[in-house]
Amino acid sequence: MKLTLKIWRQSGPNDAGRAETYHLDNVSEDSSFLEMLDTLNEQLNAEGVEPVAFDSDCREGICGQCGVVINGQPHGPEVTTTCQLHMRSFSDGETITIEPWRADAFPVIKDLVVDRSAFDRIIASGGFISANTGSAPDAHAAPVQKSKADRAFEAAACIGCGACVAACPNASAMLFMGAKVTHLGELPQGQPERWSRVLKMVSEHDAEGFGGCTNIGACSAACPKEIPLDVISTLNKDRRRAGSRA
Ligand code: SF4
Ligand code: FES
Repeated sequence: MKLTLKIWRQSGPNDAGRAETYHLDNVSEDSSFLEMLDTLNEQLNAEGVEPVAFDSDCREGICGQCGVVINGQPHGPEVTTTCQLHMRSFSDGETITIEPWRADAFPVIKDLVVDRSAFDRIIASGGFISANTGSAPDAHAAPVQKSKADRAFEAAACIGCGACVAACPNASAMLFMGAKVTHLGELPQGQPERWSRVLKMVSEHDAEGFGGCTNIGACSAACPKEIPLDVISTLNKDRRRAGSRA
């Protein structure tokens, strides 16, 4: 495949940034999107040009580290992570635009790499349970209703990639937060901190500069783990109940 790439280059947080155009002549349609970027970087290195900075770790759709906006869509045209996207999803001769996540709460560090530590701070504020240390409890000690276990498992699939924020015109992280609140709130282990958790997480979310949800649904459509929109309803319901208990 021959490709034209228009890639956002930004030397640091205070640089204005600009789109640069590059050409690749021999890309296998079986390569992954990140392998295609690796090939570009080898070419840039050989030309004495600084390689494009981008994030990745597992390259298996697990860690949530990768993520760029491809032709205007977070993670590109398929429902998957950027690392699991393959070049067969594009056409020979295509021009592909590649940008970082765009959100005030995710400032650009360099090129396609953004600072997503705001998510870590939301989790640190309440996205955990407290448990006594010691030997593992008997698996049957805390029975969980099947429907609740399924719902918790579905929400726990969130990998914290941030595509939901990048897709949302309000740059809201409500889908991410709803996934965490639903995952922990459905299980008995999550009950002791259930009400304080939701209030602390929402407060941190707002302080970090994420926007509010206006029910657009772009977040769920862009989510590589298909987290359903109704986790936001669960979040809002818990928030109201927490408020009435405060
Ligand atoms: S809800 Fe989906 S898009 Fe948002 S951080 Fe989690 S996995 Fe990524
Ligand atoms: S690199 Fe881990 S999910 Fe893409």
